[in-house]
Amino acid sequence: MTRRHPTLHQLEIMTVLARHRNMTQAAKELHMSTAALSVQVKQLAAIVGAPLHEQVGKQLFLTGAGRQVELAAQDILDRLEALYEALEEDRGLERGTLKVSVVTTAKYFVPRLLGRFCKQHPGIDVSLEVDNRHGLLERLAQNLDDLYVMGSAPEDLQVVAVPFMENRLVVVAPVTHPLVGRAGLPPAALNGEPFVMREPGSGTRLAAERFFASHKVHVTVRMTLGSTEAIKQAVAGELGLAVLSAHAIGPELACGDLAVLDVVGFPLVRWWYALHPAGKRPSPIARAFLAYLEAEGAASASPVDRRPRRTG
Ligand code: PGA
Repeated sequence: MTRRHPTLHQLEIMTVLARHRNMTQAAKELHMSTAALSVQVKQLAAIVGAPLHEQVGKQLFLTGAGRQVELAAQDILDRLEALYEALEEDRGLERGTLKVSVVTTAKYFVPRLLGRFCKQHPGIDVSLEVDNRHGLLERLAQNLDDLYVMGSAPEDLQVVAVPFMENRLVVVAPVTHPLVGRAGLPPAALNGEPFVMREPGSGTRLAAERFFASHKVHVTVRMTLGSTEAIKQAVAGELGLAVLSAHAIGPELACGDLAVLDVVGFPLVRWWYALHPAGKRPSPIARAFLAYLEAEGAASASPVDRRPRRTG
């Protein structure tokens, strides 16, 4: 004999009734009449073969069977909700949009990561904005993008920040510079050296200035440039030294256009963070990209991974 099952509507009624413990209020929430609701509860009781509630004065109580039915109903409805979410997630991964904003220096590696990610999700549309740290913080405050990549989490905004890859800042010099090749240079060796600096608002500049201030090093700012490419050219042209991310100078080091000075305290180890406003639930595709960045970062990590804790 085939068993008769309750309808989903009856299960939903049971969860709402358990919450209100009042037929009239439950019926109101479900936009049905109290009489119709009562009929459904009676039918459900007949299906499970036990009374589901009892009325004591004006108060409605669930029986033991009623509580069991309510728990099972909640389980079934939660499971369905999870199913809808998972299906929605799959659809989002097939044809979502992803808006990412990255700080200037991150343009040296994020596009490549995005490219590989897009191969896995060919249907999605991606937009990538590049700005300095200050510009990114403004975009973040206005909630303009899905994800942001920057060199440290902002302290004055509530964000979820996931560190995913090291960002090593080094002192870069023209290969002809007299300090090139000297091991263990004290920070004071940089005193009076001309520097080509990133623009104010840059995270790289901020980190360099903090280092110089904490070691009482006084460098001369020969030139301020908003472009890392221009800074590399200026350094190669012997206009001065610069502090740059190791991510930005791979090809120039390889072909001997630039050299890295061995200054004690360098590299300054910062981390690349992917973040979003704390109150924002990232889209399925943004969550997938975040997980992808974490996996890529872990794959490229050095044996001693001093990853800071994620926040938010
Ligand atoms: P920047 O940021 O490219 O603005 O210097 C890099 C960082 O925050 O470390």
